[in-house]
Amino acid sequence: MATRRQALQWSLATAVLLASKRRALMAGTSDRTQLITRAIPRSGERLPTVGLGSSASFAALARSGELDPLREVLGAMAAHGATVFDTAPSYGESEAVAGQLARELGLGDSMFWATKVNVAGRDGGSADPAAARAQIEASFEHLGSKVIDLIQVHNLGDVPVQMGILKELREAGRIRYLGVTSTRAAQYAELEQVMRDEPIDFIGVDYAIDNELSAERILPLAQDRGIGVLVYLPFGRTRLWERVRGQALPVWAAEFDTRSWAQFFLKFVISHPAVTVVTPATSKAKHMIDNLGAAMGRLPDEDQRQRMREFVAGLPGG
Ligand SMILES: NC(=O)c1ccc[n+]([C@@H]2O[C@H](COP(=O)([O-])OP(=O)(O)OC[C@H]3O[C@@H](n4cnc5c(N)ncnc54)[C@H](OP(=O)(O)O)[C@@H]3O)[C@@H](O)[C@H]2O)c1
Repeated sequence: MATRRQALQWSLATAVLLASKRRALMAGTSDRTQLITRAIPRSGERLPTVGLGSSASFAALARSGELDPLREVLGAMAAHGATVFDTAPSYGESEAVAGQLARELGLGDSMFWATKVNVAGRDGGSADPAAARAQIEASFEHLGSKVIDLIQVHNLGDVPVQMGILKELREAGRIRYLGVTSTRAAQYAELEQVMRDEPIDFIGVDYAIDNELSAERILPLAQDRGIGVLVYLPFGRTRLWERVRGQALPVWAAEFDTRSWAQFFLKFVISHPAVTVVTPATSKAKHMIDNLGAAMGRLPDEDQRQRMREFVAGLPGG
């Protein structure tokens, strides 16, 4: 008699297999998946515009050891053709759990792993190069991959030291892309400086319908410099959920194929032309599937974006 967990694994494995067969059948066309994709500016490699983040609720479950819901989340993500998984050593067990689950589900090379390095501490300070290298080696171990797609310097921690190591790794072919992250406006000036001075492939930055500060200078600069953008905090963690509690979705959201508040918030983000991928965190497969709906169908145009912005600004708590 199969246990519930085995049955779950088989059904997810079947879903992933069917999805990869579907993708293989469609390979060679410009539309490999149903999801809207964007090109990484440096390489032209296309990524599905919605991925998965792993702090917040994902990290809490990873820490608790309750892995079945996270297995379902990753299975749902892969079955729908999404690939980008954003994690970091500082998200507790998330990196190791995601690597383990991806191996169990046979996702192998189909994942685009984006992780981070930071041993400099939260408020700056210098990074010990040996500790940074050890942290990176642990990420290779956790993800079970010889090559990691992207490693970013987390929160701009000691960029000269930590990015120096990432440059070596990119040169050696152990990582494919490198970048830096920041989700604090107080760091934007430093972020801009790094974007101007360093040969980075990606940034990770906060951007949401009620938090558009990064759209003033950071996102345009990314476009100018040919830097890919991973968007973090697209819901402001729980901030936007509190704003729309009890609020009906406006009927005009259907004009750009939006059926939920999650899709409303995520479509706003990915309709910005500088954005490569948004990585909302979730611990629930139904939310993962809901979020992936934002990478399908029509995106809002400029007028519709303005209407969305005004609608959210008019909600209580704005
Ligand atoms: N400095 C940095 O490098 C940095 C900083 C912050 C974040 N990040 C990255 O960005 C990712 C996203 O940020 P975040 O996780 O803090 O915040 P977020 O993605 O804005 O919010 C996640 C929250 O939204 C909920 N949620 C997700 N999908 C939903 C849906 N369809 N319907 C209703 N609720 C939904 C989640 O709960 P459920 O589990 O209930 O779905 C969770 O509470 C992080 O996980 C991390 O990978 C990086």
